[in-house]
Order: sequence, then structure tokens, then C-alpha cells
Amino acid sequence: MSEDKITGTLAFTVFTAVLGSFQFGYDIGVINAPQEVIIAHYQHVLGVAVDDRRANSNYAVNSTDTPFIVTPAYETPAYESPAYETPAYETPAPWAEGEAAESAHIITMLWSLSVSSFAVGGMVASFFGGWLGDKLGRIKAMLAANSLSLTGALLMGCSKFGPSHILIIAGRSISGLYCGLISGLVPMYIGEIAPTTLRGALGTLHQLALVTGILISQIAGLSFILGNQDRWHILLGLSAVPALLQCLLLFFCPESPRYLYIKLEEEVKAKKSLKRLRGTEDVTKDINEMRKEKEEASTEQKVSVIQLFMDSSYRQPITVALMLHMAQQFSGINGIFYYSTSIFQTAGISQPVYATIGVGAINMVFTAVSVLLVEKAGRRSLFLAGMVGMFFCAIFMSLGLVLLDKFAWMSYVSMTAIFLFVSFFEIGPGPIPWFMVAEFFSQGPRPTALALAAFSNWFCNFIIALCFQYIADFCGPYVFFLFAGIVLAFTLFTFFKVPETKGKSFEEIAAEFRKKRGSAPPPKAAVQMEFLGTSETV
Ligand code: GLC
Repeated sequence: MSEDKITGTLAFTVFTAVLGSFQFGYDIGVINAPQEVIIAHYQHVLGVAVDDRRANSNYAVNSTDTPFIVTPAYETPAYESPAYETPAYETPAPWAEGEAAESAHIITMLWSLSVSSFAVGGMVASFFGGWLGDKLGRIKAMLAANSLSLTGALLMGCSKFGPSHILIIAGRSISGLYCGLISGLVPMYIGEIAPTTLRGALGTLHQLALVTGILISQIAGLSFILGNQDRWHILLGLSAVPALLQCLLLFFCPESPRYLYIKLEEEVKAKKSLKRLRGTEDVTKDINEMRKEKEEASTEQKVSVIQLFMDSSYRQPITVALMLHMAQQFSGINGIFYYSTSIFQTAGISQPVYATIGVGAINMVFTAVSVLLVEKAGRRSLFLAGMVGMFFCAIFMSLGLVLLDKFAWMSYVSMTAIFLFVSFFEIGPGPIPWFMVAEFFSQGPRPTALALAAFSNWFCNFIIALCFQYIADFCGPYVFFLFAGIVLAFTLFTFFKVPETKGKSFEEIAAEFRKKRGSAPPPKAAVQMEFLGTSETV
């Protein structure tokens, strides 16, 4: 086992790769804290003023009568725009009311697009990560992807000095393209360079770096650091720093030996790369493993998206795979990561930004906990436990908001419930879908299934990013009852349809699927699952 150690080159290379995951997390979290100042800036640029107390008439149905999500930023105008000086609030002429409502809707739409355009980019690019990695090689693909990250950061960094809404929406779409590529490339590259026994642990560093990125963006977003009227554009453009660092460091990273050996058939180069990564001259074990993988890959045909749905032996696993990703996103988790500051504000928390940072910190801690748990408990049981926990937390979150009017201490109930919601998410529904899908499929259909699963994850992420604000406006404090219902439905689905995969071969997993479907075993010999040597990688 002497070769299964973390050498300096391996640590350096994994660190360089997860700088991409870090950027991904940074872009998820960065939009949260500066929402108020950026919205105020949009209003300033567009020359509109919005009185949310009147403009959003549907708030009146809220028992708290508190505008949800669209925050009271409008009441404390940060800019000396003439619109703010107009005493329109005191003389609510009907036409003025209509205009204010329209402005509120435009601002809401622009803000929703600013948040969700990121997921559009991610959705489009998620299909191409593997393809680009095969075309250029893993290192060059990551380098090329960084040009997108730098362009996005540049547009956002300059957004204060131009049509900010357009620059932010464009910048976030382009950063989203980078993140979509990276969400395929980074786990693939790490999986390919890690020694067998360390593959699971190193693979989870992708999610750990991602949640670290979320936390750092939340801290940098504090108003006395960058989340203020003067520096919010720097906050948005700051992802250029890890992008530049990654570009620089990638020049010193070895190319994936699996790519060199299996794709390019360059055994000498593959050995050279392995020697650097393992810090030893004897790399026979890795070469033998790759030879076996290569043989296996050549026995199975690649499977198209249509075949995945047409072939009855794939239909059930792909449906379950897509449902797991839908469950992860429709649980509303990113509603919290994109909008928690406003949610905490609505819940009556006096320092919402600090509560948001608390969410980021808890998120990180529980991601680390899940790394330890996932190999002990089963995937299915952890996923189910997480979903059940999230269901109860969502109920308490809504109860806290609904009863806030009557009992001030309800704000603590909401806050605790949000913290626990995030903890339960990271125990199971957060990390599990990302690697469980790979366990459902053998070599042939796996790349297509993974691309489709990533696409569905980003698509649902987009729907939540775009619609969460509207849903929250519409439902008011009842919004998390809706998510509780959705979580419950997915919990039931998981209970009845998702098999346990931990410690099982591909053949056994396929048999589990047949059992759930109630059909007889297929005649063809099933392929023993030997996914990169272990069953737990991402
Ligand atoms: C998972 C989700 C991602 C979410 C993150 C939060 O990686 O796929 O959308 O933002 O967890 O930790």
C-alpha cells in the first residue's frame, strides 16, 4: 500500500483542481449578501423608485404583512436619486401606485435573472464538461474553462460603471458556463489521479471546496468588507483571483494518467505522470488497473440519451437518478443559499448577514461529517434520513414565519430550523446524488447518464433561482410549507424506488432495480461494477 499515500504533487494537484469547485461555491453564495445594495443600484441606474409596501400588493395577504425577499432596502435609499426625493409615498395617487408596482416587478425580474442566469450557464455547459476534457485533455480543458471564469468576473467587476443589470446578468451566465464545465471536469480529474484507496476521500473534496467557496463569499459579502455600496462590484469580480491562481498552478500539474493511457494510448507519458503523482518509480499497480479499465471500456458501447430511456434496463435507473437530483434541488436548498439574508430578515433576525454566515459554516461542518458517515451508513438511508429531517425543518421554518407576529421568539425557531435544514441537506441529499448516479451504471451508459443527471441538477437549480422569489412573494410566510410538501413527495419516492448501492456490485444493483420494478432477471451477463476501482467516488 506504499503507493496509496498523499504525495506533495498529489496534494498540490488536488488543491489546484478544487480551486474550480471553490469558484463554483463562491458564485453560488456571492449574490446573497449584497442583494440590497445591488438592487438599490439597479433602481438608481434605471431611475426607478419602488415602494414595496404598496407596489407588491400580494404582500397584503401575508399575515405578517412583511415584504418577503424584496427587502426593505428601498426604504433606505442608498443613492441620491431624485426619485427618492419625491414624496410619492404620502400622496398615493392611483397612477403612481400602478407605476410603482410595475417598477417593483421590473426590479424583481432583473434580480431573479441576475441570480438565475448563473444556473442557465451551468445547465448549458454541464453537458460539455466530459466532452471538453476528452477533446483537450483535463488540464487544457480546465485552462480553457478559466477564460470563461475570467470573462464573467471582468464583466461583473466592471458592472458598477455601466448598465449594471446587463453586465451582471451576462457575467453570471458566463461564470455559470465555467461552473457547469467544472462540475464535470473536477470530479473526473480527481477521480483519475487519486490512488484507489483515497479516491472516495479525495473525491469529496470537490463538495468541501464548494461549500468553502460559499462561506468565503458570505464573509466577503459583509457590509464592512465588500458587501457595501462602494465595493459590491469588487465582491462580484473577486472570483477572478482563484481563476488566475488556478491558471497559473495548472501549468505545474501532471495530466491525468487515465486520459493519457486510456484515451490517447500514450503509455510512456501516462507512466511519467503517475511517477510524479505517486512519488515512486514502481507504478505497475496503477498501470494494471488502467489496463483492466481499458479492456472493460472497449467491451461496452457508448449509450445515447434516447437509448437510456428506450432500453428497459436503463429506464428505471435513469429515472431514479434524475429524481435524486430533482429532490436535491427542489428541496429549496439553493433558495436558502441565494436568498438567506432576506429570509432571515423576514424572520426577524436583527443581523441577517451573520446568520447567513452561520449557515455557510454549518454547511461546511456537516459536509465534513457526511464524508465520515457516507462509508459507514448506506447511501439510501442517509438520503432518506436527510430528507425526513429537511421535511420537519421546512415545517418549522414556515411555522416560525407564520407565527412571528404573535411571538417574537419565533424568529429563533425559524433560524434554528434553517440551520438544521442545511445540516440535514449536507448529511445526505447534498453530496449523495452526485456520486450515487455513477454507481447505477456500467462503463457504457455511465458518461451519458452522468451528463444528463448534471444537466437536470442545473436545470432544477435554474428553476429555483428564477422562481424562488416569485413563489416566496406569492406564498409569503407559507413558502416553506410548499417545500415541505415537495420534500415529502420525494421522500416517499426514495423510500419505494431507490435501492441501496453501498458495497454492492453493479450486477447486484441492477438486480435491486429489477426487484423494485418487479421484473425477471435479463438473460445477458451483467457486468461486474468496477468503477475506477471503488464504489464511492464522485
Ligand atoms: C450541492 C448542490 C448545489 C448546492 C450545494 C450546497 O452541491 O448541487 O446546488 O448549492 O450542494 O452545499
